[in-house]
Amino acid sequence: ASFARGGSSGLPFTPIAPVDASVDAFTVPDGYAWRPVIRWGDPLFSSAPVFDIDAQTPEAQAAQFGYNCDYLDIIAEPNRRRGVLVCNHEYVNPTIMFPPSTDPAELRRRGDIYKAAQGMSVVELERRRAGEPWGYRVDGRRNRRITVETVFELTGPAAGSPLLKTAADAEGRWVRGTLGNCAGGTTPWGTVLSGEENFNGYFAWNASTPEQRRYQANATTSTSTGWETYDPRFNANDPGYVNEPNRFGWIVEIDPDDPRSTPVKHTAMGRFKHEGANVILAPDKRVVAYMGDDERNDYLYKYVSRNRMTASRRKNRQLLSDGDLYVARFRGDSPAGEIDGSGTLPADGAFDGTGEWIPLTRNGQSAVPGMSIDQVLVYTRLAADRVGATKMDRPEDVEPNPKTGKVYVALTNNSQRGGPTAPVDEANPLTGNRFGHVIELTETGGQAGTTFGWSILLVCGDPATFAPAYFAGFPRDQVSPISCPDNLAFDSAGDLWISTDGAPSTIGRNDGLFKVPLEGAERGRVQQFLAVPRDAETCGPVIRDEEGMVFVAVQHPGENGTFEAPTSLFPDYGSTAAGDVADAPRPSVVQVMRA
Ligand code: FEO
Ligand code: CA
Ligand code: CA
Ligand code: CA
Repeated sequence: ASFARGGSSGLPFTPIAPVDASVDAFTVPDGYAWRPVIRWGDPLFSSAPVFDIDAQTPEAQAAQFGYNCDYLDIIAEPNRRRGVLVCNHEYVNPTIMFPPSTDPAELRRRGDIYKAAQGMSVVELERRRAGEPWGYRVDGRRNRRITVETVFELTGPAAGSPLLKTAADAEGRWVRGTLGNCAGGTTPWGTVLSGEENFNGYFAWNASTPEQRRYQANATTSTSTGWETYDPRFNANDPGYVNEPNRFGWIVEIDPDDPRSTPVKHTAMGRFKHEGANVILAPDKRVVAYMGDDERNDYLYKYVSRNRMTASRRKNRQLLSDGDLYVARFRGDSPAGEIDGSGTLPADGAFDGTGEWIPLTRNGQSAVPGMSIDQVLVYTRLAADRVGATKMDRPEDVEPNPKTGKVYVALTNNSQRGGPTAPVDEANPLTGNRFGHVIELTETGGQAGTTFGWSILLVCGDPATFAPAYFAGFPRDQVSPISCPDNLAFDSAGDLWISTDGAPSTIGRNDGLFKVPLEGAERGRVQQFLAVPRDAETCGPVIRDEEGMVFVAVQHPGENGTFEAPTSLFPDYGSTAAGDVADAPRPSVVQVMRA
């Protein structure tokens, strides 16, 4: 096949019709085909067995592709025949990985499999010719699994803080494992950032202090993985490990080119339920990273490095250890009385206004009165509370457009909006915001500056049934319904692509991937490109329109089924062509290409 070159013209498509949430199929536009690049359990090393769901072991899983792939990047070498795939494995679904069991020894063995199935994967890719589909390479030089046992080094001003010390780490500098790795970003110096999101769910803890409660509202005595029953670091009520939860909730950085490198956790970027981090260079080559805290009524953050990116990869790896952290405050420009929670546009025709980035740290020191630098970085949510940041509707991906520098914020939904803790405001104007919205933010003070303008680009929902749905003014009857925006990406023309997580329970459709032009007459025209199978979430979109290709991570297919009664058989649908044995769904990375 030959592909048209240049911008979105490499990926012409007629939008697919929305797919009912009962359908277990991966759906692509006419003229396109799909196939997995790699699936849960595929061996990264020849030491690992061929996947057999009935013969899982911790050792096998640690050498196989992990579960619930989320963030994804496909980094091609200049010859475009070799590359590397980097992927997060956010969590596990025990009830569809295994049949029920109450045997303590078996549950412990499974716990070790869960530890090995989470974390991240680095996998070498290869193909005969540029533009062809990728295959992965068993025993590739860069192949690596990062798991809940891999050692990370803490960097930045809070490294070594008493708040980060445990019985196993008297220095407060070395952490075993990464948890809840959700979205991420690839840096201009070739490393990959990953956000530790729902780390709180892995601990048994009393949540007895205000600091703990700000990260875990209720006491928990047991977790879905059961690690707390045999590994004391997951029992935060153990006096030696009260600080263990403080060692998660960071942005981690890995070097996919060096499988022996020690991955790091960057305390300078703050601790919260990090969805991910996306980096752009300011004109002076300082690094600006945008980050969301995915919790109802939590905040949007920005990090600006002190130093500039250079040609030195070693020095660039310090850029995220030394810089200033900011949190966003939004101000609407319409009278408050016009923001009534219904989603009706105010009289000036837009949900829009200005805002500022409020410093939480400056030159390695706290900028928050009454809090030390390590308190600000470890208990970042409390620091942001103090400075009057704007409570947002669950910030997921926050991505700068490489073409324009404008920043796009996916706000996935917020059932609490309009309630006593979070009244509606112009940036979050819908009571009970069910379908989410997307904000376009313009850095009026420069990319590294402290002032911005903003407007709501999309109010999501099905325009046929939800009157407030808004598509930057584009005719509502000419767009695809969309709900619960999560991950964002851009194609080479600068068009925005949005993947969703939550459409089945909100609009009765399978989640999917959508393209949205941002400029010209097509601005706001949401067009659905693909739909993922039953109960799955669409993650990690990578748009390679120059090659006519799109990649997605299909996370938690069949999540609402059971081991005995699966609701999805994605991606093999019963085929054992690869020699695998699996009558179960397998989270997988999929490539979509011209048929
Ligand atoms: Fe793991 Fe915020 O999604
Ligand atoms: Ca307005
Ligand atoms: Ca997400
Ligand atoms: Ca989500």
